[in-house]
Amino acid sequence: MTTKATNIHPVFDRIIGRDEKEQFLNQRARVIWMTGLSGSGKTTIAIGLEKELQKRGFLTQILDGDNIRTGINKNLGFSDEDRTENIRRIAEVSKLFVNCGIITINCFVSPTLAIREQAKEIIGDDDFREVYVNASYEECEKRDVKGLYKKARNGEIKNFTGLDAPFEAPENAFLEIKTADLSIEESVRCLVDAILSDISQA
Ligand code: ADX
Repeated sequence: MTTKATNIHPVFDRIIGRDEKEQFLNQRARVIWMTGLSGSGKTTIAIGLEKELQKRGFLTQILDGDNIRTGINKNLGFSDEDRTENIRRIAEVSKLFVNCGIITINCFVSPTLAIREQAKEIIGDDDFREVYVNASYEECEKRDVKGLYKKARNGEIKNFTGLDAPFEAPENAFLEIKTADLSIEESVRCLVDAILSDISQA
């Protein structure tokens, strides 16, 4: 998307920088980007991760699809175009948090390689950690926490990820968590172990 506004005068060079904020918080900011089917366990793991990190003194912010879509992105649906715009805005918001030194834990289906590539480009490779929360369509349909799989089967939801809209699994995720094989605690522990040195000040 191109910039439409003219006569703008950014003040990036005069505001307190990220380094100083990270030192203040004694942490290094990252975006932990969880991708996976609806009901795969992204939000549950994020909540557990946030609690574990808070215990260790880290400041975090969870961004979650269902929440964001009731606020900043409430004008967006589930077409390819809207999902792309959804993820673009979220990536920009995540960048603001990272520039404030905050560890951002994102839970978005973010179903395609291109959509996640866009997020990585906006956030920057150095700060983007892709986590694949892997549960099969059959497993998610069995859980059907929100009753959406049933509705999708009955044709009440169109463009449902994994049914009549694609999900492309990550090729080089920072971490893959198979939630059908692990308890919530085990899933959270995997992620804590993988991320701890990355977010700690040297
Ligand atoms: S994304 O594809 O644009 O990344 P996002 O993570 O924001 O999706 O929202 C996904 C959530 O919206 C799901 O967890 C589910 O609760 C709900 N949802 C409603 N309709 C759909 C749909 N057609 N496909 C996937 N999720 C849907």
